[in-house]
Amino acid sequence: MQNRVYAIDIVKKEGQEITLLGWVHARRDHGKLVFIDLRDRSGIAQVVLGSSIKNANDLRLEYVVKVTGEVKKRPPAMANEKTPTGHYEVSAKTLEIMSASEATPIPIDSDGYDVDEEVRMKYRYLDLRRERMQRNLRVRHEVARFIRNYLIEKGFWEVDTPILTKSTPEGARDFLVPSRLQHGKFYALPQSPQQYKQLLMIAGVEKYFQIARCFRDEDPRADRAYGEFTQLDMEMSFVMQEDILVLTEDLFTKLCAAVFPEKKIMQTPWPRLTHKEAKAKYGNDKPDLRKDKSNPNELAFCWVLDFPLFTEQTKEDFFHGSGAAKFAPSHHMFTAPHPDDVPFLDTDPMKVRGLQHDMVLNGFEVGGGSVRIHEAKIQEKIFDLIGFSKEQKEQFSYFLNAFAYGAPPHGGIAPGFDRFIYAALGEKSVREVIPFPASAGGYTSVMTAPSEVERSQLDELGIEIKKQKNKK
Ligand code: AMO
Repeated sequence: MQNRVYAIDIVKKEGQEITLLGWVHARRDHGKLVFIDLRDRSGIAQVVLGSSIKNANDLRLEYVVKVTGEVKKRPPAMANEKTPTGHYEVSAKTLEIMSASEATPIPIDSDGYDVDEEVRMKYRYLDLRRERMQRNLRVRHEVARFIRNYLIEKGFWEVDTPILTKSTPEGARDFLVPSRLQHGKFYALPQSPQQYKQLLMIAGVEKYFQIARCFRDEDPRADRAYGEFTQLDMEMSFVMQEDILVLTEDLFTKLCAAVFPEKKIMQTPWPRLTHKEAKAKYGNDKPDLRKDKSNPNELAFCWVLDFPLFTEQTKEDFFHGSGAAKFAPSHHMFTAPHPDDVPFLDTDPMKVRGLQHDMVLNGFEVGGGSVRIHEAKIQEKIFDLIGFSKEQKEQFSYFLNAFAYGAPPHGGIAPGFDRFIYAALGEKSVREVIPFPASAGGYTSVMTAPSEVERSQLDELGIEIKKQKNKK
């Protein structure tokens, strides 16, 4: 709109007639004068409405308004030092009410932590209006923009990969989508683009990234979103593990300086610990190396390396074979064994180290990756060790086939996009940095899926719902 000025910019417009557009954030009625705090994406500006503005008394909180008026400097006694625009105000000449609002079911002028989460999710479009959530959305955007610029500059191609696909086991439960054309068959939503990015290396892309949506049906936690989350997925050909570490470290060090200038990275280059050292010294594999954990501006990154390739298989490793096998991949089954340890694959697999790297920030695993197996022979051996049946191996035959046609050595990493922002901001839950997350109870925001569907839709899919035991 012509002459539209963002609230934050009134400080540059003294004496000029401008137009503000936004929401009534606060309203103070002083008889002859009505004051409103007008809020837009940039912040808040005070507007003074005199008796000539006839509809000033109709205003209520969260009404959408258009105000034209002159920017004036406030008398020193009336200045508000606490807000960036507090030395100025707009003296209204006209007021147009563009849209009315009912009283909102949740407060918008607080940080929102005290509001029941299910209600916040139901009204997420209101919840996102609060200042803290606007900051989180903006940070998310800036992180994505920085990553894109940086990686494109380094010669990476952004390539998208399918969402309707086949199960890619990363250790969690799949989301399944029934096929209408082939009753009884299902697509799986990708737990990550892992196999596609490896296929892209075989396809000759060499440097790939994607800000990729991943789907995993696992219990939510403060640092784990339910259902879907986002990764910065990267893969490179003809690299050593060192190249992946150096690139990722440089990207995130520069990103933090650009997006979080108030925060300080405690140690550069980032400390590197072996898995053994981390366990022995800190009792876990994602140590929190901050000096003062109450200081929100400390960013303590580190790398954890030399993970064992396998862990003992547990019952939860449901995606693996017959149950007779003892070994589960500690990262995923595409991670290359350390070249020095390959002979142990035949004699003592638990001794084999993997070329895995975990990126840790303030006690959170914010990224994981590895150098990959690029020889079908070794990949098949890993399938055997994790107990894949003949049928399961056949299910992956397309993958092994691909490696028969000149697979370059390759490797990569996938920093968790949401989890990194959550850890860097020191937010209370990863859901605070996702625009429309599922609630802890597994319902999608606003639309509260999952929900029932029409009988006719089920018929088309050839699906019959079993009667639930506890439902009449
Ligand atoms: P991994 O399973 O370790 O590796 O995932 C990589 C990173 O994704 C983030 N993450 C999550 N963030 C929010 N909510 C979740 N439910 C969630 N699950 C994972 C974490 C984690 O470090 N394909 C491999 C990557 C690779 O090898 O390149 C993979 O997905 O920050």
